[in-house]
Amino acid sequence: MTLKVGVVGVGNIGSIHADVYKNNAKVELVAVCDINKEKADAAAKKFGARAFYSVQEMLDSGIQLDGCSVATRGEENGGEHYQPTIELLNAGIPVLGEKPISNVVEEAEEMVALAQSKHIPYGVNLNHRFTPAALRARQWIDDGRLGKLHMINMRMWINNPVETSPWFHLRALHPHSFDVMRYFCGDVKSVAAFMNKGRTIAGQDRVTWSNAQVALQFENGVVGNLTGSYDAGGGFGLEFCDVSGSQGRFLLEEACEKLTFYRRDSIETESYGYLGGMRAFPETFKSRIGAWVDQLDAKTPWDKINGSGRDALQVQKIIEAAIRSFETHSVVDIK
Ligand SMILES: NC(=O)c1ccc[n+]([C@@H]2O[C@H](COP(=O)([O-])OP(=O)(O)OC[C@H]3O[C@@H](n4cnc5c(N)ncnc54)[C@H](O)[C@@H]3O)[C@@H](O)[C@H]2O)c1
Repeated sequence: MTLKVGVVGVGNIGSIHADVYKNNAKVELVAVCDINKEKADAAAKKFGARAFYSVQEMLDSGIQLDGCSVATRGEENGGEHYQPTIELLNAGIPVLGEKPISNVVEEAEEMVALAQSKHIPYGVNLNHRFTPAALRARQWIDDGRLGKLHMINMRMWINNPVETSPWFHLRALHPHSFDVMRYFCGDVKSVAAFMNKGRTIAGQDRVTWSNAQVALQFENGVVGNLTGSYDAGGGFGLEFCDVSGSQGRFLLEEACEKLTFYRRDSIETESYGYLGGMRAFPETFKSRIGAWVDQLDAKTPWDKINGSGRDALQVQKIIEAAIRSFETHSVVDIK
């Protein structure tokens, strides 16, 4: 039986969600919803779905929805997720939200608590952990190939001249980085951060704290570091994640595309230049949304969702701890 799904917010990213659903044989895209009538109508025409202009109107119509993406944006790219997510969860509909889960931790906590209290699947598009290379690297950890985990170093930098607030870089970009770090090394215990305001390629001094070094201690004793920037990328390369343990090490490069394994006791390496499913940016949506659909289809319980609302909440807590650490010049523990 095909699952009937909708997309709320059909801007740039919501249109990618709609396109992925449209090409997934397990689902039927039945609804698109945007407060911008022109966008809703255009998406309805393009994807062959029914247009709605508010979540409430969509719910009142009685249309069957077995799941719904929320790809709104708002302040610091996360300020408008709360309202539609709460409305959908209250109606009992599983939600796949965009990142950041919210730019306000209290709102993120409320959404996660609501999904938990109603036992409704709630996922977030933390797409980097779903790439085939990231899945294989995680399997190596689970299989014990790295031995006892020691350290993780992550770098995520892109050229992004956009800035809407001092914390835009941290809150909008680094849900991805901290999620990948948590995916490999588990929950974070303590955070210490240093930042500066850089300069764009065009020579504009930044308003946002656009370069950051964030040191992390994980609950399992692993120590790690994030190098994050909105003033790098391009010719500097992309994402890089290096995890080392007592037996081996892996290096995940270029937005989780290239994967290399190094043995500690030998110079032999094992390299995968391309494992599929991630050569172009929208391909990461296909892997992530495909996994969400598979979990809905398999009736996966709310507390077994991969890339869950709780995962997204935990990374926002790391981000807020980094901000507090930098502001107070101290190490901050995550509650
Ligand atoms: N996962 C990723 O790799 C990735 C990459 C880029 C952006 N994003 C995230 O995607 C989200 C969307 O970004 P975008 O660039 O597509 O934004 P956008 O502004 O192009 O689209 C957002 C749309 O939501 C609509 N909207 C706002 N409130 C609404 C409501 N209550 N009900 C219905 N529609 C509503 C707006 O009218 C707009 O059309 C952001 O949260 C961003 O951080 C994720």
